[in-house]
Amino acid sequence: MTLVLKVSKKNGEDAKTDLIAKNYFNGLYKPDSDKNHIYFPVTSEFKTKLGTFENRNLSKFKSKPASLRELFMKVLPIKLVDDVRRSYDLIGDIAIIEIPDSLKKYEKVIANSLLKTNSKIKVVAKKPSKIDGKYRIRKLKILAGEKRTTTKYKESDCLFEFDLNKTYFSQRLSNERLRLANKVKGSEKILVMFSGIAPFGIIIAKKHPFAKVLNIELNPNAVTYAKKNIELNHLESRVFSIKGDVKIEIPKLKEKFDRIIMVLPHDNEKFLSDALKVTKNGTKIHMYTIQEESNINKFKKEICSNHPIRIVNTVKAGDYGPKMWRYCLDMKVIE
Ligand SMILES: C[S@@+](CC[C@H](N)C(=O)[O-])C[C@H]1O[C@@H](n2cnc3c(N)ncnc32)[C@H](O)[C@@H]1O
Repeated sequence: MTLVLKVSKKNGEDAKTDLIAKNYFNGLYKPDSDKNHIYFPVTSEFKTKLGTFENRNLSKFKSKPASLRELFMKVLPIKLVDDVRRSYDLIGDIAIIEIPDSLKKYEKVIANSLLKTNSKIKVVAKKPSKIDGKYRIRKLKILAGEKRTTTKYKESDCLFEFDLNKTYFSQRLSNERLRLANKVKGSEKILVMFSGIAPFGIIIAKKHPFAKVLNIELNPNAVTYAKKNIELNHLESRVFSIKGDVKIEIPKLKEKFDRIIMVLPHDNEKFLSDALKVTKNGTKIHMYTIQEESNINKFKKEICSNHPIRIVNTVKAGDYGPKMWRYCLDMKVIE
């Protein structure tokens, strides 16, 4: 027998919303109904004017529901089910979901449902609306599962470990990392500016056994993880990380690079002159930039007229909003 809240059918939707919001819905059992009433399984009695409590035989839900939507149908008021985005990012074993403000009071119920759908998910966290600050970090709020924001992640046969609340990481750039890795030839010397936990440099170096990579990154936590990741992938002899500001560190460098990758898409152009201090004729630069589609040609014209470069390829490397893209400008230095 299971404790149920018995409500008249006309109060059914209000009662369900109320008991889910107050966290009394017992998601293990299927609600039941007869001609005039609905019987909602509850975890304990609580104060309500919408119905009365009694015990009733209810059947259990199957232990592995077929889909996330099916789960949401059980725990959310029906009219809200389609407001929840059913896609989420999975970074290692951390699932990151977006929850609109209208569903805030259901965020834990939604997260617990997601946790049940995939045994690989150990933590469910809420994505903040913005990535912010000079380290470009998003502060995740853990909603369900283990209380941690560190994870292990695999990409292109490389291993990474990092803390999502202390470092920037986006697996949406994985195609770009591979695209650039495929462009590298032989024993190139590569500089990665704004290198984070070093995913670009590690993936390139792993694919090219004679390539050498130098990473520069400001966030001390990201540099600590970058060094750890370089070790995890046994690349200590060819991939190096400097902690510091590119504006200060680049002028100290004695060498010239064959390729430079610039991963600060909101501000990269402010650092193009710094990058050009360590280039030679023919150096390739891959510079990310976030632009409205209507502005990209103007942006390209401006940087070409201000710097000794030629843009050889413009790649849409992910959407960023309505008619807004993360572009990668593949450029060549002409001295
Ligand atoms: C968008 S993230 C890219 C991280 C990494 N390349 C990746 O793809 O995962 C930009 C990074 O630049 C770093 N950063 C910002 N300003 C910097 C500066 N002046 N010098 C060096 N690093 C900087 C931030 O801490 C952040 O980790």
